[in-house]
Amino acid sequence: METIGVAIIGCGGITLQNHLPGLALCQDVKVTALCDADPATLERARQQTGVQTVSTNYKDIVKRDDVQAIIIATPNFLHPEIALAAIALGKHVLCEKPIALNYTDAKAMADAAEKAGVRHMTAFTYRFVPAMRYLAHLIAKGEMGKPYHYRSCRLQDWGTRNVGWRQIKKLAGTGELGDMLSHRIDFAHHLVGPMKRIVANVKNLTPMRDGAPNDTDDWVAIIADFQSGATGVLESSKLASGRNESWRSLDYVELNGTEGSFEFTTGKWNELQYGKLGGPGMKPIEVPKEFWTWPGSPRDPKVGDPLVSFRYDQAWEFIDAIRNQRPCVPSFFDGARAQAVMDGALRSAELGQWIEMPK
Ligand SMILES: NC(=O)c1ccc[n+]([C@@H]2O[C@H](COP(=O)([O-])OP(=O)(O)OC[C@H]3O[C@@H](n4cnc5c(N)ncnc54)[C@H](O)[C@@H]3O)[C@@H](O)[C@H]2O)c1
Repeated sequence: METIGVAIIGCGGITLQNHLPGLALCQDVKVTALCDADPATLERARQQTGVQTVSTNYKDIVKRDDVQAIIIATPNFLHPEIALAAIALGKHVLCEKPIALNYTDAKAMADAAEKAGVRHMTAFTYRFVPAMRYLAHLIAKGEMGKPYHYRSCRLQDWGTRNVGWRQIKKLAGTGELGDMLSHRIDFAHHLVGPMKRIVANVKNLTPMRDGAPNDTDDWVAIIADFQSGATGVLESSKLASGRNESWRSLDYVELNGTEGSFEFTTGKWNELQYGKLGGPGMKPIEVPKEFWTWPGSPRDPKVGDPLVSFRYDQAWEFIDAIRNQRPCVPSFFDGARAQAVMDGALRSAELGQWIEMPK
């Protein structure tokens, strides 16, 4: 098999936590180059990986012949510029979420990638949780019936600490909305289908974080009407004091349909709660073993912390799609669809009105 050369642009937290271990799982893949604007971060990544081709300028990296694909893991505002430059050179792109700061740019990225015939993928990592995959499977099989309601609640305790570029609107676009709720918007699309219209509010309750200005949202709530007629309620906050962080905090999704209800939480990677119409209530159901890894992924689900290691299947999906010249799941179109909801949420909060979603 021909080796696929991958470059990583942005060598911060998520690259070390997800992308590098994910790529290490993939056969015949070589990380050929690294880029980070911060020389110290770049040097740490170089030492950690042994990759000798490094640059602080992504333009030097994306043009290289030994780079067939790139992973973009920079602050959000840079995603479209880097993606479009790579696509123009015929490179496949896995881009962190949110893929852009607005729908127009996100859609332009998806259209450009399609036109160039390159693979494009949005890092909606929680699609890879085994319980999420099983849930999507059960819903597609009709176990829930026709959907009535989608509900998601993401509550973390980030206090008032400085969260770096994440609290600067021109670098991040939004705060909680893009950082956390974007994933739950994607779940909603994935499990219930497109939203028809939304009404939303956002709040910045910490204009200073650890002495530094914050001009992004700490809290967001969206009420949605789906095209199917189902309703949605989505809430996300950084200020749920005492709730802890990451998968140790609340990350809850519930769906109610004509035949029953399902509850999912990222903290329980191989379990769902299920209740049948007219039944005694919600009971745990186990996720069957065949759902413990993404189809075809060589990952051993017994190795490592399963609350972390499911994320490595994302890189495998990207590489397998390149290898087999098939669309990635989730694609830039999924990223753009979530972005349309994010744009709509900001407009709705500003105008105090329902906003129709693009067709
Ligand atoms: N999919 C997920 O679950 C998930 C989780 C965390 C973060 N993310 C996303 O990943 C991206 C990065 O987040 P992070 O937590 O790793 O942030 P981070 O701050 O830890 O890392 C970002 C890196 O990008 C570098 N950078 C800045 N400007 C650059 C430029 N012009 N060229 C190259 N590198 C540059 C920074 O120096 C930094 O090292 C964001 O878009 C974020 O939303 C996604």
